[in-house]
Amino acid sequence: MLKLNLADFSLEHFMAHYWQQKPVVIRQGFEHFADLISPNELAGLACEEEVESRLVYKDAGQWQAEVGPFESYARFGDEGWTLVVQAVNHWSPEVAALVPPFSFIPKWRFDDVMISYATPGGGVGPHIDLYDVFICQGSGRRHWRVGDRGDHRQFAAHAALLHTDPFEAIIDVELLPGDILYIPPGFPHDGVSLEKSMSFSVGFRGKSACDMLSGLADHVIDKELGKALLSDPGRPIHQHQGQINARDFAMIKAQLQGLLDNDALMADFAGSFLSRTKCALDLQALEEPLDAADMANTLREQDLLRTGGLRCFYVDETVTQGVCHIDGERFEFGAALQATVRVLCDNDSLSHAMLKTGLQDPEFARQLSAWVNAGYWYFQD
Ligand code: SIN
Ligand code: CO
Repeated sequence: MLKLNLADFSLEHFMAHYWQQKPVVIRQGFEHFADLISPNELAGLACEEEVESRLVYKDAGQWQAEVGPFESYARFGDEGWTLVVQAVNHWSPEVAALVPPFSFIPKWRFDDVMISYATPGGGVGPHIDLYDVFICQGSGRRHWRVGDRGDHRQFAAHAALLHTDPFEAIIDVELLPGDILYIPPGFPHDGVSLEKSMSFSVGFRGKSACDMLSGLADHVIDKELGKALLSDPGRPIHQHQGQINARDFAMIKAQLQGLLDNDALMADFAGSFLSRTKCALDLQALEEPLDAADMANTLREQDLLRTGGLRCFYVDETVTQGVCHIDGERFEFGAALQATVRVLCDNDSLSHAMLKTGLQDPEFARQLSAWVNAGYWYFQD
């Protein structure tokens, strides 16, 4: 199991002084780190339709980017290009093993593990990200420069590449296998491979109020909520026809605020919205479906593993009724299953002992076997 080694500082120190605040290099954050996937396997994944990938290179000094799937890489030559593959934790359990060491940050903030394979001189160019990233260096060496937050101009170096102007470095390092570079949102950075190299980026993304409101609008439409029309009995005589006066403005805001103040509605929305994945999951449905009894028996022999990238959350507000949110859907198992729901959402691997109470509940046992049949959880063999 991979263990994060913060050497000079504690997790508390990291969270208080660096997280979301400033970049830092963690030398040998993963001791004896070896690539969790080979360059060939990564290149193979980028040939698949469902996998998001892009290849970035320069042609006659001009930045170019092509999106996958790719058929071959021969035309790109031996240097100056980078292959970036998104959400590799969804496709490779070995890569998904890079996520648990970062469990000091909740899963709802986690985005994905992006991997890049770069040839000498390859990089994606100077840019600014909107997410926190732990760039874990695999094989080979990469030169990284990170600038300070500031008013950096951004421009499209290519239709698919948002770059930033050259910047002064506050960090200028060569990362070696096992080193980690943490970069919060807003800090310009640029990595250039010094030789063939792999880097594994564990990304965390916060949503904007705009993302949340647009998701909330979809939620209330889907669930047919918030349909009551504004009503104003007892309205005083209005003096100025064109005016939305302070009293009316307060009433308009209160209508919307009523939705935001509805904790049960907001808990359902937040849980479901945040448990949706951005990239496809590798769901391998069972050829021979198990019924609840078969599933419980198999679980006595082997643990169930959560498929990479599957998002499972509960909200304090509603977990007391056994509510959880799995891949964008809400499930309610009742107050007696509160502890089971917590176990289900808090662990990547589930044993019979952990699910014992839940398995005695026919509805939970049925739902768990439905999830296993659909590939959301799987038995290793
Ligand atoms: C890379 O790994 O090449 C790009 C990672 C990044 O800068 O976000
Ligand atoms: Co970046």
